[in-house]
Amino acid sequence: MQAEIDTSADGVWNAVETISTQAGIEEHQPRTPEEWVAARSAAITLVEATNLLVIDGRRVGAKEFPAEADGALDSVHIQDLVDARRPAFNGFAAALREAGSRAIAAIDAKDPVALVRAGGEIDAVCEACHLTFWYPGQVIPAFPAANDPRRPIFRAGTSAK
Ligand code: HEC
Repeated sequence: MQAEIDTSADGVWNAVETISTQAGIEEHQPRTPEEWVAARSAAITLVEATNLLVIDGRRVGAKEFPAEADGALDSVHIQDLVDARRPAFNGFAAALREAGSRAIAAIDAKDPVALVRAGGEIDAVCEACHLTFWYPGQVIPAFPAANDPRRPIFRAGTSAK
């Protein structure tokens, strides 16, 4: 996940970004042939990495690891879930492969808008698989109530800093 899927997905997402700074909004997209090649390499690595996800009998981790947060599972429970629901896990891997393939098509067409769309689809698949197999009990903190001192203050015309 970390070394191949996450790194390659970042390569696809970072190729087309909108950065908002005090100087204004900066749109970033591949412009030089080298930048398009870099984005393409990342998308291909992502698609190829999905083949590793579906290898039968491959363990979730080389070593056991604890749950990372409230609502997340430890490696033993993740492995049990993956073993019990292999077809669903492989289905997410296939969906990631398809979204990644659309990113490659967008890159080949040098179409930044389609690349942003494919990036959104990739993100949705990551999240769906994680919600099913990694942190099914995810705890989302409630937005602080009006009288809660942690509540951010929003004023018209100013940004919340
Ligand atoms: C087929 C299911 C599946 C898909 C699709 C998937 N993941 Fe994961 N991911 C997992 C599982 C299960 C874990 C928890 C086990 C682990 O840490 O490897 C995980 C863990 C991770 C981690 C934590 C790794 C660590 O070492 O702590 C990162 C980062 C991550 N995924 C990123 C992504 C990104 C980015 C995508 C989409 C581009 C993605 N994943 C798509 C199943 C998936």
